[in-house]
Amino acid sequence: MRIASFVGQKGGVGKSTLARVLAVAAARAQHKVLIGDFDLEQLTCVEWGALRMRNGIEPEIEARAFKSLKKLRKTVEGYDLVVVDTRGLADELTDDVSRESDVVFLPTGTSMDDLRPTLALARKLAKTRSVSNKIVIVLSKTGRSERLLEQAEATIAEAGFDMLNAVWPERDGFQADLDVGRAGSESSNPHLKQAAQDVEQALLTLAMA
Ligand SMILES: Nc1ncnc2c1ncn2[C@@H]1O[C@H](COP(=O)(O)OP(=O)(O)OP(=O)(O)O)[C@@H](O)[C@H]1O
Ligand SMILES: [Mg+2]
Repeated sequence: MRIASFVGQKGGVGKSTLARVLAVAAARAQHKVLIGDFDLEQLTCVEWGALRMRNGIEPEIEARAFKSLKKLRKTVEGYDLVVVDTRGLADELTDDVSRESDVVFLPTGTSMDDLRPTLALARKLAKTRSVSNKIVIVLSKTGRSERLLEQAEATIAEAGFDMLNAVWPERDGFQADLDVGRAGSESSNPHLKQAAQDVEQALLTLAMA
């Protein structure tokens, strides 16, 4: 069983979205996948899973709320992959989840406003030796400026962290899909589908490696 987690110090950067994108990719690849939703205030993934079920979208994605890692550990037998979604705030749970994970994704925007706290969290997590080689920064909700993207990539590389080899572009269509229980490559728009497939594959490869 593998655990892939999405953590961050910032709200709204795409943690819950990319968690769903990865879960869909894993399910479509015939892996038995569970989303562990630790954001008990929002329950973004749990609500989305229920909506997906109501709308009859296959494959079904199981998403359950968890308060502690202890509870999660007790429940996860029989799954190939558990995708953990956390709150937009780094706390003790972030440290625990990171230690338990096989890969820790930190989604971030390209602005320094986003990169600064993300890299600070990455540095903090990396102090735990067993976590340092699992951290992967994901450029998320990126705009159309190549220059901003390159700058962000350079900043991350300079900080010495690994980066996902695909970016998650900001597109209104992805929001519309999430709102009906779909995610990523399930988009009916071929351009969005292609962009999502690249990210999905990159996430899935690292999650199942
Ligand atoms: N590629 C995208 N293009 C446009 N909108 C997006 C994209 N990805 C996510 N969103 C939207 O951005 C918002 C924030 O995304 P999401 O909920 O995944 O962030 P989060 O990091 O989980 O936030 P929080 O910290 O509040 O849990 C949501 O409304 C989502 O629909
Ligand atoms: Mg969220």
